[in-house]
Amino acid sequence: MRNEDAPARKGRMSRAVSALTSSLRAQLFAWVVLTLIGAICVNLYLSFRTADATANLVTDRTLLASARVIAEAARVDASGTVQIDIPPAALEMFDTGYGDRVFYQVVTAWGNLVAGFPDLPRPKRDMIGEDRTFRTDGIRMLMLSQPVVGLDQHGTISVAVAVTHNSQYAMRRRLWLSDFTKQLALVLLAGLVTIIGLQRGLTPVLRLRDAVRERGRQRLDPLDPHMVQNELRPLVHALNDHMERVQNQMAAQRRFVSNAAHQLRTPLALISTQASVAARETDDRSRDEALTALRSSTRQVTRLASQLLTLSRAEPGSRRPRNDTIDLAQTARRVLETLAEEALRRNIDLGLETSETPVRIEGDGTMLREMLVNLVDNALRYTQAGGRVTVGVGHEGDAALLWVEDNGPGIPEAERAQVFERFYRIIGTEPEGSGLGLAIVREVVDGAGGSVTLGDAAGGGLLVSVRLPAV
Ligand SMILES: Nc1ncnc2c1ncn2[C@@H]1O[C@H](COP(=O)(O)OP(=O)(O)O)[C@@H](O)[C@H]1O
Ligand SMILES: [Mg+2]
Repeated sequence: MRNEDAPARKGRMSRAVSALTSSLRAQLFAWVVLTLIGAICVNLYLSFRTADATANLVTDRTLLASARVIAEAARVDASGTVQIDIPPAALEMFDTGYGDRVFYQVVTAWGNLVAGFPDLPRPKRDMIGEDRTFRTDGIRMLMLSQPVVGLDQHGTISVAVAVTHNSQYAMRRRLWLSDFTKQLALVLLAGLVTIIGLQRGLTPVLRLRDAVRERGRQRLDPLDPHMVQNELRPLVHALNDHMERVQNQMAAQRRFVSNAAHQLRTPLALISTQASVAARETDDRSRDEALTALRSSTRQVTRLASQLLTLSRAEPGSRRPRNDTIDLAQTARRVLETLAEEALRRNIDLGLETSETPVRIEGDGTMLREMLVNLVDNALRYTQAGGRVTVGVGHEGDAALLWVEDNGPGIPEAERAQVFERFYRIIGTEPEGSGLGLAIVREVVDGAGGSVTLGDAAGGGLLVSVRLPAV
């Protein structure tokens, strides 16, 4: 025999326990079996009590009958003493084939032994059976007091009859067994039906499990909710919803990659052409022109690449969420400083309006800065030269409010939802761009738990309002 070491056995035990607690079927069956065992134990006890009581009762009846027969046989003789001839029938009624021994004792009210065993114990009460010990035997005994014809008014005799337990216990065993087997059969039948019911009830769930398990990685079409019971249909609907979301996400991802590739390919092709032209050009001026165009295309690709990178960083789950406390006014001031040169170049009046009190929010500082850069960049880019761009920071109720207002062409209402989509640009938009700016803005704002809306500025043009939870 192989000697297993204790840790291995312990590991197997804990694995078995965890298999039990993690399996629905094992758990249900364990509960049914535990209930059955409990029911059988209770049944064992209760049927014993009933059998015991019945056997006692029957024995007591026989004892009483026997005592009565003995008492009836008592006579008073001429000298006034009580005489008795024990009728054999009184003792024969205990002869049931179990080898029981019978004892009796007849005494007068004044304590004279008339017949029987002088040392037989006396029960405490009349006509009530008691379990006692006599010499070395366990006995069941009963006492009866009865007046005797011929004695004066106090002339009663007490007849005590006792019998060993053999027949009583045999009867108790028989009653117990028959009662117990009947109940056991019922309990087992109930258990069996329950287990079959559970098995049948669980079948659809297992079928669902197999259906999910057998699916390939790419199969995301909905499962049929009718394959499980009513109570479980919400689970199937939730699964289907989830798969639909995954499907949409995958489609969006595919669209995004192909869009990005297209966006990169056009300027890259242009760069290639421009480089060939520059290489071929012999005239210095023409070559400089070609090189300037080349630089501009390169800038465009670089910008596109960095926008893609920013967008991917702004997506949920791509960065560890940072919780800096940021003063929005300060961030706005810094962003305007970096963009001041561009504003100056296009002769745009770039202003900042801040409230007296600091406007603090919690979030990822780098990403919030990117958001602001994109908004101000758009305003500067799409507003005609000589225009006006104002950035404002303040509170609106509990929220922090950031707005960017320009007096450019604005965005028609019909397109305000779409401009947040990736790569979406309004047709006819001249200045170069990728269509990713507002998509980045929305990702950042969503990530910070805020909201962004587009509206009309007072002097025509676009008003972008961003609301963020203030701290
Ligand atoms: N301040 C603005 N004024 C007018 N149009 C704007 C403004 N900001 C954005 N737009 C429009 O929304 C479109 C999407 O903007 P965006 O996502 O930043 O991409 P991009 O600026 O790279 O084109 C732009 O193409 C432009 O037509
Ligand atoms: Mg933009």
